[in-house]
Amino acid sequence: MMHNTQTNAVPSMIDNSIPHHQEFLRDVLHGLSQPQKTLPCKYFYDERGSQLFEAICSTPEYYITRTEIDILKRYMADIAAIVGSHCDILEFGSGAGIKIRLLLDGLTDPRSYIPIDISMEILEASARELAQQFPSVQVIPIVGDYHKDIQLPDAFRRQTPQRKLVFFPGSTISNFTRPEAQTFLQRIRRLLTEGDGLLIGVDCIKDTEILNAAYNDAAGVTAAFNLNLLHRIKNTFSTNLKPQHFFHHAYFNAREARIEMHLVSKLDQIVEVEKTRFSLRKGETIHTENSYKYALPVFASMAQQAGFTTGKVWQDPGQLFSLHYLTAH
Ligand code: AVI
Repeated sequence: MMHNTQTNAVPSMIDNSIPHHQEFLRDVLHGLSQPQKTLPCKYFYDERGSQLFEAICSTPEYYITRTEIDILKRYMADIAAIVGSHCDILEFGSGAGIKIRLLLDGLTDPRSYIPIDISMEILEASARELAQQFPSVQVIPIVGDYHKDIQLPDAFRRQTPQRKLVFFPGSTISNFTRPEAQTFLQRIRRLLTEGDGLLIGVDCIKDTEILNAAYNDAAGVTAAFNLNLLHRIKNTFSTNLKPQHFFHHAYFNAREARIEMHLVSKLDQIVEVEKTRFSLRKGETIHTENSYKYALPVFASMAQQAGFTTGKVWQDPGQLFSLHYLTAH
């Protein structure tokens, strides 16, 4: 595409809800008091966690990122033809990386780009860089938790002849339960007008060995990412929590079609967080993340139920990953 030379002002920030201390504490206390202890995976992404996630994406075992990038590169002309020109793009999650650049570069004259991310620092840096690299695209970053309702800028709410495109790459939808994923798709649908699009990356069911390796990389980056959640709790609250008293465990649960990540207690222990005590037996786990894998028809039927017409699905030759273009109807 052509980039014009008009200067693009440093983007102003729309500040939605940043998860605060109290909410984090409430979620930790609630999760640890369940019969199967849990911690919400959205808290993985503090500064260190976001760095570790970036590092996971480059491990040889974690096929998701590089495969999706390959699909985007291989089929960009096709994607651009379907999306059309002058679209407004909304992305859930940080657009710091190569994927949004491929899209902004490959689509025909995209008009605006609205990244939504929980981390103000990451957003600021990436929005500034993108505004410089794509001066014809209006970049409107929004700080917020996209698990909740988000206030969108007028540019995206207005009814326009241009298409709105929600971009949700990386199979982040995998980290929702099925009902949550269904509700999330419905929420996206409500942001759109008939004819608008959703370009969404979805990880596929595949060989258990490939899946297990992807979440148990040999260099231990995923283990560090999982354990970082305990470091974050330790650094945030008054607690006797010792991350070294836990180890990372991830496996594919075929019945549920999901990877489960757990933190396993190495010993019988009492963990106290802000004066609330929790006992853990040796071998007991804290369930920290699910990563659901989808057969194509299963995802298509969820999308249809949420008010989308299913369209093109692009896959890599090994059918590890899928990129779906859905149209709001
Ligand atoms: C962000 N999300 C799609 C990743 C996944 O594969 O479920 C998070 C992740 N957890 C461990 N490795 C990567």
